[in-house]
Amino acid sequence: MLIDELQSQFAKLQHDIRNGPIYPNVTASEIREHLARYYDFTHPLQLDDVLADVTEMLRNWNVQITHPRYFGLFNPSVTLASVTADVLVAMHNPQLASWRTAPAANEIERHTLAWLAGKFGLPRNTFATFTSGGAESNHSAVIVALTRAFPDYGENGLRSIDCRPTIYLSSQAHDSFMKIAHMSGLGRRSIRIVATDEQLRMDLADLEAQIAEDRRHGFSPLMVVGTCGSTTAGVIDPLPELGAFCADNNLWFHVDAAWGGAAILSPVLRDCLAGIDCADSVTCDAHKWLSVPMACGMFFCRHQEAVASAFRAHAAYMPNQSGAETFDPYTHSVQWSRRFIGLKLFMSIAQHGASGYADIIDRQAHMGDLLRQSLSSSGWTIVNSTPLPLVCFTRDGLDIPAFLSAVRERQIAWVSEAHINGRPVVRACVTSYRTTERDVLWVVDEMNRLVTSEAHDRDTTNAAMTPGTTEAASHLPVFQSH
Ligand SMILES: Cc1ncc(COP(=O)(O)O)c(C=O)c1O
Repeated sequence: MLIDELQSQFAKLQHDIRNGPIYPNVTASEIREHLARYYDFTHPLQLDDVLADVTEMLRNWNVQITHPRYFGLFNPSVTLASVTADVLVAMHNPQLASWRTAPAANEIERHTLAWLAGKFGLPRNTFATFTSGGAESNHSAVIVALTRAFPDYGENGLRSIDCRPTIYLSSQAHDSFMKIAHMSGLGRRSIRIVATDEQLRMDLADLEAQIAEDRRHGFSPLMVVGTCGSTTAGVIDPLPELGAFCADNNLWFHVDAAWGGAAILSPVLRDCLAGIDCADSVTCDAHKWLSVPMACGMFFCRHQEAVASAFRAHAAYMPNQSGAETFDPYTHSVQWSRRFIGLKLFMSIAQHGASGYADIIDRQAHMGDLLRQSLSSSGWTIVNSTPLPLVCFTRDGLDIPAFLSAVRERQIAWVSEAHINGRPVVRACVTSYRTTERDVLWVVDEMNRLVTSEAHDRDTTNAAMTPGTTEAASHLPVFQSH
């Protein structure tokens, strides 16, 4: 059975990754030489040999983002159900451009998205589609908002609009909005950076002032982006206040919950997302905190008619669906030919259930709290404030590039440099359901050793030391394959 074979491969890979390095040690020329030597494509090769070689390349020449000590950029460890789904999808290769070519796939996606829309508290008739990720979802939001606000935009472009639309977000918002402003024709200067409070949350007074000022100068404020779980520091903007403000001021309220949106499934964290139900549109990526492989983004929008108008298309060669109950994805989204993105989320939720997901999200939040507390009690300064498992920290006199290079060299954890209020800090985000308390405590211990004098004398052969697997096994999370 496919599932048996996958299950044993998956368990072996998880075991090997846990006990191996996180960071690769390779140069581009080494990889290029290898590829040039073995793959000139002149003669066919045995698939088994290619598979063995590619497997080695992936194991040795990549950062292992499914490692339990990968504390990185929202890339998760993936569930077995989601991996199985991706294999099935590749084998069947259904075409999601139209409804009629893939009724089962379309309805599975619809069912999954409607369930999540309900969790967000969005109305029953909310439009939703799977996307390639957060950037595409954010892009969709801007295009739909423009289409709704300026009916002439679709036919005659931005030049037909006699005012300049502007978008408001904080410095914490995702940088995809800069590219989106560029690609949409709004221009990067249409982005307004709103000030933040001491917790890096968008400052409503500054938002109000900037909008008033822009209106006085002939601009046309279009959209406010509230971030729910910012990339650098996990900040959640004041969503209820932003929602109310947008409603009063006739502005599109987009919530970028690419990472933080998953917390809606946690009874403990859900309240932190209050206000998301007021959004005109929401971005949420299952390939971030819902533990499925890339690419699996989602775009929710309460204005179905504006979505249909923004992405309308008709091609005589397409098997168009005219039924009132269904729609063709290519006429309601950026993509045309499209992979069956949603199956991995459907199968993963089906296997683990809402309660399984709640457990795993709460567990990661607990690991974040533990990381925060352990760092703080051993003299580190925590510089961000969030209920989500993302910790930014530093300490007096820390040479961050040198520290990070030692962390990397000793394979302690994947952590990165971030900047908060212009100050460099270390950023660590618990993104794996496989991370154990023991991992977290070991990482903090090792980092402490690096910054004490003892670290200088330390034998670097200890670099391969890992926190071991015995206790980790006794804390197996619900997604762990047994
Ligand atoms: C808050 C936020 N929004 C949007 C994105 C873009 O998502 P993607 O990389 O899936 O396109 C990211 C990526 O990390 C993000 O953190």
